Amino acid sequence: MTLLIENIRWLVGTHPLSIGRLKGREISHLPMVENAFLLIDNQRITRFGAMSEPDRPTCADAYIEATNRAVLPAFCDSHTHLVFAASREEEFEMRLKGMPYETIAANGGGILNSARKLGAMSESELFDRSWTRLEEAQSLGTAAIEIKSGYGLTVESELKMLRVIRRLKETVGHQMAIKATFLGAHAVPTLFKDNRKAYISLIINELLPKIATEGLADYMDVFCEKIAFSSDETDALLTAAARFGLRPKIHTNQFNSMNGIETALKHKAVSVDHLEVLTENEVHLLRNSSTIATLLPTAPFFLNDSHTPPARQLIDSGATVALATDFNPGTSPSVSMPFVVSLACIRLRMTPAESLNAATLNGAAAMEVSNDFGSIAVGKRGRMILTKPIPSVAFLPYNFGTSWIERVI
Ligand code: NIG
Ligand code: FE
Repeated sequence: MTLLIENIRWLVGTHPLSIGRLKGREISHLPMVENAFLLIDNQRITRFGAMSEPDRPTCADAYIEATNRAVLPAFCDSHTHLVFAASREEEFEMRLKGMPYETIAANGGGILNSARKLGAMSESELFDRSWTRLEEAQSLGTAAIEIKSGYGLTVESELKMLRVIRRLKETVGHQMAIKATFLGAHAVPTLFKDNRKAYISLIINELLPKIATEGLADYMDVFCEKIAFSSDETDALLTAAARFGLRPKIHTNQFNSMNGIETALKHKAVSVDHLEVLTENEVHLLRNSSTIATLLPTAPFFLNDSHTPPARQLIDSGATVALATDFNPGTSPSVSMPFVVSLACIRLRMTPAESLNAATLNGAAAMEVSNDFGSIAVGKRGRMILTKPIPSVAFLPYNFGTSWIERVI
């Protein structure tokens, strides 16, 4: 089956296949072909170029006319908690009345609230709810997505979440790439409140071996934060995960800087995520590392937290910056990558080119799928976004909160 897209006003993100990520200021350049065609054969990009090319292909099984429109690589959302039982708008209302997120969490709300609800839900109900959200992600242009466990916090419920992720992966098939991350160390469950060591040992000695045997996860995550796990505990958890071949992608520096970056780098983390509170020294540590700095601008936005990740310093110092939704019921109940891209420009002072690169190619790198996703290159999967008619590419992040996607290809 061949598909030919013609008269594309802007074919955006045409990085060569050999470029798997954009480090530092490389992210500022978003290559594109104007007045272009693109040919997909059997779901792979086989050729693209200018409409003026004399020998350009003209025959295909199907055609799309893209006059005045842009075609860009589908989004790669490298950090989500898409599998959860229920929304938490009651906590939203508590926060609006002035109660801080960390206080709600310390009183048994937050992650523990989600864990109670998830524990009581059947696997098939959890799958159905998650599937609906995955379909929404797709309709918003996402084609590669990472999904974490971490609302189980018991052996049974963590495995239930990871099995739901596996079923999502099987059901969605070639439509999307899904990576699974084990986040048993998301919070200390109520039952272990006075014996956190026992919970960490449960993760290391019971959960990790089971997850590895069943091949249920690609990565290991830990929430390194005052309300969750210390850097020493994170170190112990990541050491254990390495024995089972799980590389880290960790939550750190969301509210406090407490050695999470050093610990992540020691374990050669694929990414460090959040970074709302980052010291200059930590920016410096990230500049020469292969660990990706994944920024989640909708989380501090939704929490109305004035801390924002220092995207400009990270980019200027040479770090690799990715953007993701952090989709979850507590701090970022939106799976919209278009909104993330807008917010990255508005609040992180990233340029439209930088934010689109960070949400596509560098997001793909943060899931190690840049061979197949994240840019328009011959050989990659033909997963793309066709926009509505637009006046320019910068219009996309500028036109925040509106739907500029005409069709997901
Ligand atoms: O990435 N920071 C930790 N985890 C999520 C929020 C979890 C929740 O409140 O349910 C996050 O922001
Ligand atoms: Fe998160």
